[in-house]
Amino acid sequence: MKSFSKKIIITGGAGFIGSHVVRRFVKKYPDYKIINLDKLTYAGNLENLKDIENEDNYYFVKGDITEETFVNELFRKEQPDGVIHLAAESHVDRSISSPMEFVKTNVLGTVNLLNAAKIIWKNDFSNKLFHHVSTDEVYGALGETGFFTEKTSYDPHSPYSASKASSDHFVRSYADTYGLPTVITNCSNNYGPNHFPEKLIPLMIHNIINKKPLPVYGDGNYTRDWLYVIDHAIAIDLVFHKGRLDNSYNIGGFNEWKNIDLVKLLCRQMDKKLNREPGESEKLIAFVKDRPGHDLRYAIDASKIHEELGWKPSVTFEEGLGKTIDWYLENEKWLKNVTSGAYQEYYKKQYV
Ligand code: NAD
Ligand code: TYD
Repeated sequence: MKSFSKKIIITGGAGFIGSHVVRRFVKKYPDYKIINLDKLTYAGNLENLKDIENEDNYYFVKGDITEETFVNELFRKEQPDGVIHLAAESHVDRSISSPMEFVKTNVLGTVNLLNAAKIIWKNDFSNKLFHHVSTDEVYGALGETGFFTEKTSYDPHSPYSASKASSDHFVRSYADTYGLPTVITNCSNNYGPNHFPEKLIPLMIHNIINKKPLPVYGDGNYTRDWLYVIDHAIAIDLVFHKGRLDNSYNIGGFNEWKNIDLVKLLCRQMDKKLNREPGESEKLIAFVKDRPGHDLRYAIDASKIHEELGWKPSVTFEEGLGKTIDWYLENEKWLKNVTSGAYQEYYKKQYV
C-alpha cells in the first residue's frame, strides 16, 4: 500500500471552490492523500472532478458533516494531519428562505469537524492544521468607501453570513480554549468554471445563453469584489502551507464591480462570442424586487496575504471572465444537468 507524507480531509470538495482546491492539491502534491468529504447536496457534483477521479492519491467519501458519529469515525479511520473545510450552504437567497439548513451545516457541521480533529489529535498538535474557509460577508457591508481588513469587526446581516461568522468564532474558540492549530481565510466573491447557476455570474451566463430575463436585484448599484476561483485555490494552498497559526487572512480580487455594470459587461462579451447583434443581450436586463437586508458593498484589503505570503491574483478580470464564459459555452451538458429538476423549482420560487 502506498504511504503518504500527509493526509488531508477536504470538505465540500465536490462544490464550486472545493473542486478547484481538490484538483490543485491532488495534482500538485502526489504524495498527499486527499480525502474529499462531501454530502453531494444540490451544489455538489462529482462531474466537477471527473478529470482526477482515478488519481491514486484521491479518495471520495460521501457523508454529512452534521452527523457526529460518522465524522468521528471517518477521522479515527483516516487519521488526517490536516483539514481544509469548505463544506457549507453558501447561497444568501437560500439562507433567507431556509435559515435552519445554514445553522445545521455551517455551524453544527463545523463544530463536529473541530471536535473530531481535537479528539484524534489529542494534545499532539505538531504538523496539524484545521484550515477554515470563510467569507468576507462576516464583516457586514461597507458604504461607498473603505475596505475590510482582518481587524474589521464582525457584523453579519444575512442568515448565511451570520452562520459563517458563528463558525469562524467557533474555530477561534477551539484555538484559544484547546490550543487547536487553526487558520481562517475570508475571501470575496468568487467566479469561474463549475459555479452553480444560482449565483450572479453563472446565472446571468445561463440566462444570456437561453435568452431569458436577467434579474438584477433593486437598482443594481450593489458592489462586489470578484476573484477568479483558481486564484482562491492558490491562496488556500499558500495559507495552508505557510500561513501563521491562529491567524486569519483576507483574500480579494482588487476588483470591484457594481452588479449592473458587471451584467452589462457580460452581455457585451457574450454577444461577441455568440455572434449576436451588439446590445441584444442587454435588452434582457430586468430590474426585480430587491433582496431583503441586501449588503451594499464588499471590498477586501488583501495586503496581509500579499505582504506575508506574496499572493496576488494571477489573472485579470477580463481574462478570468473570458475563460469562464468559454467554459460554460463548452460545457453545455454540465449546465443542462445542474439546471434540470430541482433547479427549476428553486428558480420559480425565487424569480417568478
Ligand atoms: P458550494 O455551495 O458550491 O459547495 C458547497 C459544497 O459543500 C457542496 O459540494 C455540497 O455538497 C457540500 N456540502 C453542503 N452541505 C454539506 C454537509 N452537510 N456535509 C458535507 N458536505 C456538504 O459552495 P462554494 O461556493 O464552493 O463555497 C465553498 C466555501 O467557500 C463555503 O464555505 C463558502 O462559505 C466559502 N466562500 C465562498 C465564496 C463564493 O464566492 N462562492 C466566497 C468566499 C467564501
Ligand atoms: P451572489 O452571487 O448571490 O453573491 P453574494 O450575495 O454572496 O454576494 O450575488 C452577488 C450580487 O448580485 C448581490 O449583490 C446580489 C446580486 N444578484 C442579483 O442582482 N440578481 C440575482 O439573480 C442574483 C443571484 C444576485
